[in-house]
Amino acid sequence: MKFLEKYKKKKEKKKFLEKYNKFAVQEKIEIDWNKINVNRISLINSAVRKVLKHKDSCKYLEIGCFNNFTFNSISLRTEDKIGVDPNLGGNIKTNSDDFFKNNQNKFDIIFIDGQHEYSQCQRDVLNSIKFLYPNGFIFLHDLIPLNWKMEHVPRLQDDWNGDVWKVGYELSKSSNLDFIIAMTDYGVGIVKNVKENYKYCYLNNHIKNHKFKNFLEIFDDLPKCEANTAYDFILN
Ligand SMILES: C[S@@+](CC[C@H](N)C(=O)[O-])C[C@H]1O[C@@H](n2cnc3c(N)ncnc32)[C@H](O)[C@@H]1O
Repeated sequence: MKFLEKYKKKKEKKKFLEKYNKFAVQEKIEIDWNKINVNRISLINSAVRKVLKHKDSCKYLEIGCFNNFTFNSISLRTEDKIGVDPNLGGNIKTNSDDFFKNNQNKFDIIFIDGQHEYSQCQRDVLNSIKFLYPNGFIFLHDLIPLNWKMEHVPRLQDDWNGDVWKVGYELSKSSNLDFIIAMTDYGVGIVKNVKENYKYCYLNNHIKNHKFKNFLEIFDDLPKCEANTAYDFILN
C-alpha cells in the first residue's frame, strides 16, 4: 500500500514537472558551486575568529541544523553553541518561531538555514537582529538559486534554495546595516554593523508572489562578491 502511494506521488510529481517546465523560464545561471573552494563553514569560522579577537567568548546560534554538518564544524565549545531544529540535529528541538519567543540570550553569530520560504526566513532575520550582540554577524544560506526548480516553492527536489533570495534582496535595500552575498556554496548572505536605527526594507506585497524569472531580473542589482572578498568583509 505504502509502495503504491509513493509510486502515485512520484508519477504525479513527474507529470507536474513536465507540464510546468513548458511555462517556466528555462534560463539558468551558470555557476558550478563545487569549483569554488570556500564554504559557509569557513566563512562562519572566520567570523568566530574576528569576534574572539575582541571578546572572551563567542555565542553561536544555528537555525536549521539537519545532520549537524555545519553545527559540528563551528570551532567553538559546545556550551557556546545553540542549534535549533524541530526535526534533526542541533541541541534544541523546536522551530525557530517558538525558540525566539522564549529566548533570553544574545548571540555574536547567527546562521539562518531553517525553513527556506520567504516569510519564515524574513521572520528569522528580524528575530535574529533582536538577539544579536553589537558587532555580531548574521549568515544566511541559499540566497542564489540557479534555475527555476531550485527556487520553486513548494519544494520539488532535494537540491533546493527556495525563495529566500527575496530576503537577500530586502537586506540589500535595507539601511544602517552592511550586507553582502558571497558567491559560493549556493550564495551565503552576511550581515554586519546592524545599527540600532536600522531600517528593514519590507517588500512583501510587491515580491511575495515573485518567481525565478523575477530573481533573474534583480540578479545584477544584488551586492554579490567573490568568496575571498567576503573574508575581507568579515575580518575588516
Ligand atoms: C538545509 S537544512 C540545514 C542544513 C545545515 N544548516 C547545514 O549547514 O548543514 C534545513 C533544516 O531546517 C530545519 N527546519 C525546517 N523548518 C524549520 C524551522 N521553522 N525552524 C528551525 N529549523 C527548521 C529542517 O528540519 C532541516 O533540518
